[in-house]
Order: sequence, then C-alpha cells, then structure tokens
Amino acid sequence: MRWSELPAGTFLYKADPQRGAEWARLFARHAPQLDFRIWPDVGDPAKVRYLAAWLPPDDLGAFPRLELIFSIGAGIDQFDLAALPPELPLVRMVEPGIAAGMAEYVTLAVLAIHRQWATYAAQQRKHAWRALRVRPASACRVGVLGLGVLAQAALAQLVRLGFDCAGWSRSARALDGVACHAGAAALPDFLARCDILVCLLPLTADTRNILNRALFDALPRGAALVHVGRGGHLVQQDLLDALNDGQLAQAVLDVCEPEPPPADHPFWEHPAIVLTPHIASMTQPETAVTVVLDNLLRHHRGQALEGLVERTRGY
Ligand code: GLV
Repeated sequence: MRWSELPAGTFLYKADPQRGAEWARLFARHAPQLDFRIWPDVGDPAKVRYLAAWLPPDDLGAFPRLELIFSIGAGIDQFDLAALPPELPLVRMVEPGIAAGMAEYVTLAVLAIHRQWATYAAQQRKHAWRALRVRPASACRVGVLGLGVLAQAALAQLVRLGFDCAGWSRSARALDGVACHAGAAALPDFLARCDILVCLLPLTADTRNILNRALFDALPRGAALVHVGRGGHLVQQDLLDALNDGQLAQAVLDVCEPEPPPADHPFWEHPAIVLTPHIASMTQPETAVTVVLDNLLRHHRGQALEGLVERTRGY
C-alpha cells in the first residue's frame, strides 16, 4: 500500500465530527497503522504526532510529540501563528475537492451577476416579463484578487466560459488566459478594469480591511463584488455606502465578521446583497485524506511539504 511506510502514531482530528467520521473510515482503509482520533477523544496525548484542525486546541503544550499541524481549511488565519511553536510546520489545505468547490461557487456568482439573475427574480415577483439585453461573457471583465490554488481553479472555469479575466497577486504570476497584475503599484489599473471583482485573498495584516471605500471607488461605477475570502477583508459600512450610492451594484458575500452576522445586521435584508453561510467550498474528505497522507509521507522522508505555511508572510 502506498502509505504503508508511515510509522504508527496518533493522528488527531479537530473539526466537523461528521466529516471526521469520513476521515476515520479513509484512514482505516489507507493507513491503518495510524491511530485516527476525533477530538476530544485524544487518547494518550504523548502519542499524538499529527493534528488536523480548523481551530487548534488552546494548549498545544499538552502534545509534546506533535510533529505537524494541518489546517482543515484553505485559510490559516484562524490560527494564532505567534502562539504556535516556531519549528512546528503548519500546512494549509490544498486539495482538489476544495478547489473544485470554489470554482463552482465563483462561477455561479459571476454567471448570476453577468446574466442578471437577481433582476429576473425581482421581475418575476412583480409578474414582469421583460427581456434585458444579453451580452457575451467576453464583454464582462472579471478580476480576481489573490491568485492561489482556489483562485486559479475559479479562473480556469471563467476563462473557459469566455470572460475577460484578470488577476492580482502580491508577487508575479503567469496564468493562461488571465491578465496578471502584481504588487501594490499595479492594483489601481487592475481595479479599473473589473466589472466583477472576486476576493480570494488570504487574510493577513496586509490584507485586513482591503475591501474598503478607496478600493470600491477604484472600480468602474456599477461594479459587483464577490467576496469569498474572509470577513476581516471587508469594511462593512464602506460596502453598504458604496451599494447605497450606486458605486457598487451588488455584492455576493460568503464570509462575514462575525459569522453569522447579528440578527439585525443590514447584510441580511439588503436588496443588493446575496449572503451565504461560508459554504463557497469545503474540504472533501476523499481527496483531502489522500493529500494529507502524501504530505505525511513527504514529512517522513524529509521532503518538502505541499502547502507549507510561510509564517513570516502569514499564508
Ligand atoms: C474555508 O474558509 C477554508 O479556509 O477552507
């Protein structure tokens, strides 16, 4: 078996228990020598070698032999990096299932905006049979902030559908069919050509509050926002102001700070906002376990880990 050379030890899982049960079945099949446990059933803490968590336990000191931590999600901002032992590798989830899910959600949102789905839903409620001009995807300029694995999967779909695609990232990238921009100096030119802006940035000290009034003002008037990053990227009042004065036409938000927003929060009722409960994508046990076990093998062989977080850059 591919993973039979992995040594025995405890793999502790601390996230959604339902999906944890699926992880447990996959571990039992692929790497039965590992003692897979679901939090809070940690067994002997001294035997825990690996941890996969959405939120890590408060006291990592309880696990003196911990070698490796996996984030269950693509993002790692929920980890307090300063509180983690500096030499302990942290790996973010880079697996095909989560990328495919994100590509679906972003494509759905972009198509809904491009094909004016919200307008037709409102017209239907008024019994109005009114055709709006259908424009080709090539006339719609989509821009993605952040060009990591999830963004690349989404852009590949959008390029296939014929959208006029651009992307922006901190350091330079080259992607087929995508006009790539890099660095702070390139941001205004990038924004000026985005009819639909998709945020897929990691949340770091540099990107917190990046979705603010100045950024919205740099977009063409009437642009739309699809936000699938983190709630902390967005200055909420700036979004409401931009929607209310027409600078932005609509927003699709999958994330919010806090989650859920309070019951009386304006996002719930705003006619130009579509709000979903952080479901744009989810780690899929079947594909994630394969990726995690392959990474354990790399770790065991002393090879470079895939998705290793660079602590200093924060993702
Ligand atoms: C979810 O938001 C994730 O980080 O995977």
